[in-house]
Amino acid sequence: MPIPIIFDTDPGVDDAQAIAIALAHPDIELLGLTTTFGNVTVDIATHNALLLAELAGQSIPVAQGAAGPLVKRKNPPPGHIHGDNGLGNIELPEFTSQALTQSAPEFIVEQVNARPGEIVLVAVGPLGNLAAALQLDPTLVDKVKRVVVMGGSIREGGNVTPVAEANIFNDPHAAAKVLQAGWPLTLVGLDATHRCVLDPASMERIVAAQGGLGKILGESYTFYRAFYHRALGIDGCCPHDSCALVWLLRPDLFTTERGYLSVVTEGLAEGQTVMAPERREFVDSRWSQGVPADVCMNADGAAVVEWMVETLTANPVL
Ligand code: RIB
Ligand code: CA
Repeated sequence: MPIPIIFDTDPGVDDAQAIAIALAHPDIELLGLTTTFGNVTVDIATHNALLLAELAGQSIPVAQGAAGPLVKRKNPPPGHIHGDNGLGNIELPEFTSQALTQSAPEFIVEQVNARPGEIVLVAVGPLGNLAAALQLDPTLVDKVKRVVVMGGSIREGGNVTPVAEANIFNDPHAAAKVLQAGWPLTLVGLDATHRCVLDPASMERIVAAQGGLGKILGESYTFYRAFYHRALGIDGCCPHDSCALVWLLRPDLFTTERGYLSVVTEGLAEGQTVMAPERREFVDSRWSQGVPADVCMNADGAAVVEWMVETLTANPVL
């Protein structure tokens, strides 16, 4: 039985790779794409989400969401990482599909209420849409099947500050609401995604199978790969957002720990995610509030990448 998901995203080069997986995998029922600022402005995120779905030949609802963070000043989009157009500054084809008039939070609330207990929210950008959906309907906590967040870092260190991962850093107040809401939640952070490198040979196999969408994936990958070479000295890129979907379908490729999550929202460490392991006691109980989450602390990187390639070559776009 395919898993119904709503994919909340800020496409973004690695988002695009994950969207291709969500569009391709027979065990995923993609109910919609909801867009947020983060790697790009929310308008560009919506543009790219519509384009990617149309290139895959699928009619997927796209609902636009958060244009900025709940509280803090918005940081400029990282054009040096994803390109100013979010897809490596490559030339993009025209498309005809249009976004819903319904907002992302409204779409999430409507869909989850229509199918209580069934839907997995997969969030791979800043978490403002999920926070707003919770604000609209707090009962979502008991109606989603699970929330899977690509974000955070427990022991790996940060990628935008020494301690903060981008999605959390871009909206720490929203992240705190989402990670501490009490719904069933899995965090797929840098502790896992940094163990995975989508290498050029694997990317070539994906490109060959994915038609016009593959062309976009391949050309945008070139830009993103150059960033990773400069930043981390690796030849390839970390497929952060795809890891959230790989965990959903192949949790056995990841090592998880259960713990209470907190988010630092102000000061030098803003955007840091802190995990208090479930059975540990600390100086007081403030780090162990709410419901523990399942936190990915490691991944079999080679198997994750091979699963990505298998998925995207076994389900070609004609
Ligand atoms: O830190 C990596 C995350 O931030 C990924 O979701 C990437 O797309 C960016 O949004
Ligand atoms: Ca993303």
